[in-house]
Amino acid sequence: MQNLTNTAQTLGLSTARRHLFLCADQTEPKCCAKQSGIDSWNYLKRRVTELGLASGPSPHLLRTKANCLRACTQGPIAVVYPDGTWYHSCTPEIIERILQEHILQGIPVKEYTFAQNPNFTP
Ligand code: FES
Repeated sequence: MQNLTNTAQTLGLSTARRHLFLCADQTEPKCCAKQSGIDSWNYLKRRVTELGLASGPSPHLLRTKANCLRACTQGPIAVVYPDGTWYHSCTPEIIERILQEHILQGIPVKEYTFAQNPNFTP
């Protein structure tokens, strides 16, 4: 249990402000070409580190690669919690906007939002 507690602390599981799930490297790529999702995922990982969002105090961001988020069109698809904001067309360019505008400033990128769940509040 101690190791898991340390891991949770290292990952910031109790302190992260948001969690971004990105559909990438799918078993059955449907929302975008497999390489497109992988490119976006690699970009997301690199920029999260470069922007200092991977650890430390807020706005700490958790990131998870999802095999499929079930929207399956106009991908790569992403969703940001706790906001419940769903994004389409998440190319590296749009990932950068999500990081700069939504994650860092708290302002969702409306042009690429296709669903917003009001049951989740930022
Ligand atoms: S394959 Fe990306 S959302 Fe289903």
